[in-house]
Amino acid sequence: MRLIIVSNRLPVAVSNSNGKFSMEKSAGGLVSGLSDFLKSLKNNAKGVREYLWLGWPGDKIDKEDEEYVRQKVQKDFSASPIFLSKKLMDKVYLGFCNRTLWPLFHYFPNYAHFDLDYWFEYKRMNKIFCDELLKEIRDGDIIWIHDYHLMLLPAMLREHVSNPIGFFLHIPFPSYEMYRMLHKESRTEILEGLIGADLIGFHTHDYTQHFLRCVLRILGKENHMGKISMPDHTVQVDTFPMGIDFDKFYLMDVSPFPSNKPGRGEPRMVLSVDRLDYSKGIINRLLGFELFLKRHPEWHGKVCMNMIVVPSRTGVGAYRKIKSSLDELVGKINGSYGSISWTPVIYQYTSLPHKELIATYRRSDVALLTPLRDGMNLVAKEYIASLEDHRGMLILSEFTGAAKELSESLVINPNNIDEIAEAIEEALNVPMKQQIRGNKIMQKRLRRYNVTKWANDFVNKLVETSHISRDSVSRKLLNQSLLQRLTGNFRKAKSRIIIVNYDGTLVPYTKYPASAEPPEALLRLLKNLDAQIETDIVIISSRGKDELDEWLGGLPLNLTAEHGSWIREANNNEWALLKPLSSEWKEEVLPILEMYTDRLPGSYIQERDYSVAWHYHKSDIEQASQLVKEVNDHLLSITTNISAHVIHGSKVIEVSNSGINKGELAMHWLSRKEYDFILAIGSGWSDELLFQTMPPHAWSIKVGLAQTAANYVVKGQTDAIAILDKLRDH
Ligand code: UDP
Ligand code: G6P
Repeated sequence: MRLIIVSNRLPVAVSNSNGKFSMEKSAGGLVSGLSDFLKSLKNNAKGVREYLWLGWPGDKIDKEDEEYVRQKVQKDFSASPIFLSKKLMDKVYLGFCNRTLWPLFHYFPNYAHFDLDYWFEYKRMNKIFCDELLKEIRDGDIIWIHDYHLMLLPAMLREHVSNPIGFFLHIPFPSYEMYRMLHKESRTEILEGLIGADLIGFHTHDYTQHFLRCVLRILGKENHMGKISMPDHTVQVDTFPMGIDFDKFYLMDVSPFPSNKPGRGEPRMVLSVDRLDYSKGIINRLLGFELFLKRHPEWHGKVCMNMIVVPSRTGVGAYRKIKSSLDELVGKINGSYGSISWTPVIYQYTSLPHKELIATYRRSDVALLTPLRDGMNLVAKEYIASLEDHRGMLILSEFTGAAKELSESLVINPNNIDEIAEAIEEALNVPMKQQIRGNKIMQKRLRRYNVTKWANDFVNKLVETSHISRDSVSRKLLNQSLLQRLTGNFRKAKSRIIIVNYDGTLVPYTKYPASAEPPEALLRLLKNLDAQIETDIVIISSRGKDELDEWLGGLPLNLTAEHGSWIREANNNEWALLKPLSSEWKEEVLPILEMYTDRLPGSYIQERDYSVAWHYHKSDIEQASQLVKEVNDHLLSITTNISAHVIHGSKVIEVSNSGINKGELAMHWLSRKEYDFILAIGSGWSDELLFQTMPPHAWSIKVGLAQTAANYVVKGQTDAIAILDKLRDH
């Protein structure tokens, strides 16, 4: 099994200065975490052993160097570079990704720029990734796409390959109110792009829920326990908090770097480590430290803040601005409080290699991490894991994904500067025993759910999800050769019947049921089929007889209305009841539906002779999807004692007489005559009973790739029409 990792960045950014190539490790948690996971694959006895990493190697490569870089990164990193022009990446990477998506997804709408040109270029960049990937993908590969730069890629790829496709978002997925600020086209297409994956992962339960809510509100797609049903696959949405390579941090020999905690007389160390990003709350952190110094003169000269700031996205204005604010504030604090023998804030604008970073973690008495928003924050986990002596206190913002797992740390709200100042004081005074106890608990969790476990969990779930989805689909998919056999059977048969459902099969589902009239072409097709010798056509519908009369009454077809309560035979224009029915139950059901109609604006009741339908397609989708469960349960509880039953259809709940269903109806038609060709096609839940009653030699076909009792499935409504079209007399 080969794993294909796809991310915007490769693990290294390549540049050429005066003929000398340099490979700089890319910043950030995505590269750190995945690189550690991929290293661990060498010791993996089963599952994934081979991998390929596709991504952008940076924009500092000349055209003539591309081949050299390709070979170099292939050899050293098992990577395949995707070269993208600086012009494109200015609009995509600096533009849509880091001026639009990043601020919005981190709840900084004031920093967000909305430029349609950025969006069009983002689409173009995702398409380039798709084309490049298609050159690499082989059968059996597993594709794992990462982060916000590539959110359109899952659906683009699905158009071309049937390999398992996973997607993981390394940043927060924001609430619906924030997400909807994206302009209409992009907010819809991003969600559609993501649900092209088989599995979508987020760091926390909140992000998962935010995403599912956006899918419901914007795409109108409901989920069941995080599963979204698509016509051609099922998408599983789940939470996988990313871990770290615990042993690397805990066990690493960091010599020659000093790693002991400050001794007596030396100032205690408060560590701050991040990329220079406004989302990291670095300014608040410094303000908190300044306030701490102001309030606690007894600590002057006895504590230092060691601030490591990794340069990041310097091409974006907001990042440059924060750098100058930071420089100014550090100068101000050191100027106000420092002395010849004591610098309160030691500030390094650089990225440390891991060995040195781990030594720095170990030397620090306190780690102060105050992001205003952070998808996970691996630094927090790395700090705890590095404490081989178990001594040290983590102060962590509640707005990081990591805070959910590191509850033994001091969890604070970084918007409150007082709270930061007090937490520093508290952390410096926590008794040793308590520090050791808390850190051991956190280390236990980090050791168990490490980055390898995280990645394996994701990949295993991806394989499982895509197999289930593809098995049920591919096993039953009506392919061309089956279709030919079906047509052959039809032509040879002496007496034939076609039982076909109306909504979703003959016509597509529409938002407004009243507007689902049959188009002319459909009427011509039905007429043609019906005119063939010894061919009975039965249209089954839950609609009322008046509607069917109006739309299809002009053709000599067999019609059945209200799930089969009413029948109109082809040779007789009169409607008759399938069997004696009662409608007394309506007296009990109607008041209940009226009550729910009052509660759910936009919902309405449609009353027919022997059935009642409660429609909610015009209502607020989220409110409806919550209330519908209650309505369904309420109706089920009362209909167990009366002669009626409940069916939940597409944005409608219907109550009709017990004993009236599409299965009974099929029996009615099939018991009248011997047919040697039977075709039953349906798309809804109620058609399952139709499929279940079909004799073994029947062709039963479900429209929509889902679990079904039918023998075969087709993708969509137009495929159903295509089958009927094959049977027409040419
Ligand atoms: N890091 C590093 N050198 C440094 C500072 C940070 O290698 O000097 C790494 C750190 O080990 C961590 C990553 O950068 O793995 C930062 O990841 P995090 O999730 O904390 O934040 P991100 O930068 O992804 O927003
Ligand atoms: C975060 C993002 C990553 C990104 C990293 C560094 O961790 O989730 O996708 O790679 O920051 O940012 P950069 O813009 O340098 O890639």
